[in-house]
Amino acid sequence: MKSENAVELRDIEMHFNMSKEKFDSLKELFLRFVTRRLMFEDFIALNKVSFDIPKGDVFGIVGLNGSGKSTILKIISGILTPTKGKVETDGTIAPLIELGAGFDLDLTARENIYLNGSVLGYSKKFMDEKFDDIVEFSELREFLDTPMKNYSSGMVARIGFAIATITKPDILIVDEILAVGDFKFQEKCEQRINSMINGDTTVIIVSHSIDQIERLCKHCAWLEKGKLKMIGDAKEVCNAYKNQGTN
Ligand SMILES: Nc1ncnc2c1ncn2[C@@H]1O[C@H](COP(=O)(O)OP(=O)(O)OP(=O)(O)O)[C@@H](O)[C@H]1O
Ligand SMILES: [Mg+2]
Repeated sequence: MKSENAVELRDIEMHFNMSKEKFDSLKELFLRFVTRRLMFEDFIALNKVSFDIPKGDVFGIVGLNGSGKSTILKIISGILTPTKGKVETDGTIAPLIELGAGFDLDLTARENIYLNGSVLGYSKKFMDEKFDDIVEFSELREFLDTPMKNYSSGMVARIGFAIATITKPDILIVDEILAVGDFKFQEKCEQRINSMINGDTTVIIVSHSIDQIERLCKHCAWLEKGKLKMIGDAKEVCNAYKNQGTN
């Protein structure tokens, strides 16, 4: 891959098997299964998607529900392997993809901060040093010893974002997570993202807030039904996306 790129995607296809039929009972499903008459439909969630994301870019991905945005982020993060095509990435990746992923919600936030740190490969000593930063950024000191299952989705997002950004990853991936934070927290996250940009982190953001994409991103891709519809300057792509169907 080219040294100036953080991510290269070539002809990415993602197929999912979806059962075509509905069954009245488990028995019927079982019978169809053993008699091999179970039909699956091949659903193409991503169809020959190719693009590059240069190092240090803040790159947005927009598209309607089900257009393949989260799927492509999972492929870039290595959580999903594409059915076809080639994905290459350069550097460490911090994926903020699903709320609560990486947390054991029965544990308290305090316990989860250490758990998450060890999953990310950080030592206890390092986490001791960063602990106050994380708590301060998330503004959840009073709730540190509450099991996270009692947190609101915004509170989970606060802790997740605070942990993912304690060190500067080479590539930060943010899927809709900012959307659940209140406006003040969104502002704080945007500031932190901006400070990372200056520190050459590549940031990839999926959001239904087009304002947010326009504010933060240099470049943007628009996915439509699993295909790359447009890519380029964030403002131009966002304008075209907003005006779809009106001309
Ligand atoms: N594990 C899976 N099994 C089957 N189908 C899936 C799976 N994951 C995603 N899909 C399908 O792939 C398509 C793209 O899903 P994806 O989650 O990437 O959309 P999205 O653009 O992130 O949508 P949203 O804006 O709602 O988050 C959808 O039709 C979805 O049903
Ligand atoms: Mg999604």
